[in-house]
Amino acid sequence: MASFPQRRMRRLRKNPAIREMLSETRLSRHDLVQPLFVCDGKEIDRPIETLVGQSHHSTDRIGERVLRVKESGVSAVILFGIPDRKDATGSSSLDPEGVVPRAIRAVRESVPEMVIIADVCLCEFTDHGHCGVLQEQSPGEFKVDNDATLEVLSRQATILADAGCDIVAPSAMADGQVQAIRVALDAAGHEEVMILSYAAKYASAYYGPFREAVKSAPAGGDRLAYQMDPRNAREALQEVALDIDEGADIVMIKPGLPYLDIIARVHDTFEVPVAAYHVSGEWAQIQAAAEQGLIDGDQVYIESLQAIRRAGASFIVTYGAEQAARMLGSC
Ligand code: PBG
Ligand code: ZN
Repeated sequence: MASFPQRRMRRLRKNPAIREMLSETRLSRHDLVQPLFVCDGKEIDRPIETLVGQSHHSTDRIGERVLRVKESGVSAVILFGIPDRKDATGSSSLDPEGVVPRAIRAVRESVPEMVIIADVCLCEFTDHGHCGVLQEQSPGEFKVDNDATLEVLSRQATILADAGCDIVAPSAMADGQVQAIRVALDAAGHEEVMILSYAAKYASAYYGPFREAVKSAPAGGDRLAYQMDPRNAREALQEVALDIDEGADIVMIKPGLPYLDIIARVHDTFEVPVAAYHVSGEWAQIQAAAEQGLIDGDQVYIESLQAIRRAGASFIVTYGAEQAARMLGSC
């Protein structure tokens, strides 16, 4: 039985103007980061089969692509490189003329004000697909050598900063990676380059379409020994605390929707900005269901992004950033 006077929640939802006045969360084009995939070669704009709407672009074409991103109103991109040459140590990631440094320069030239984030990891550059340098434990048994990996990641971050990115985003889940990178950046005079740490990155099956897109699925084994166990939440807070201590400017949670509780807890516990990555599998689910006519893809997508913002993310890395920005309009 309702008490009197009856509490009428519907007053809060009466018309669009009132709903806008009372909305607790806003989603705008400023909150979105567009991932871009850059490859070696020339005159390539090749659609990625596993990621609807995304393409591989060669570095001579990435400038054009980023102009369209700018037109949509999105002001930040994150770059992933797909080199022709992969080897055991990911050495092509340490080439100042490599695919990502060239892409950074091309993006900067094409849209100087674009915020450029560069992913720092080895899995796109190693032939084994792991996020670090492997060490043989016993015959045929390999594990990622944490400290040898730190060395490569910090050199990679310095090269990306030299090329002109604004933010480096270490995603290898190596212990101490944020500190190692901060020290290296400062030593190279890059005090102004930010670190966006993939602080709580889960060992998730939602990364499938991305790994297909960059051919980085581990050739043997899995990432369970360095990425987080999906069953754990308190451990994520520990990861975040360590990264902040090491000098992370922004911490990222990944994936997005299945980990809203983590985003909320990190947001409520720490003062640094929180980012979220709405990953390839999340995007693929929406696209596949929409294609079958089971859901309205655009609406489900916007609702997903709103939910991630509501949980506490300042911004979201997401494959449909450009498309969402067009739907959301200019303000
Ligand atoms: C690389 C990296 C991954 C993603 C972003 N950076 C994949 C992985 O750990 O295999 C996943 C992104 C996505 O699925 O959209 N360390
Ligand atoms: Zn990786």
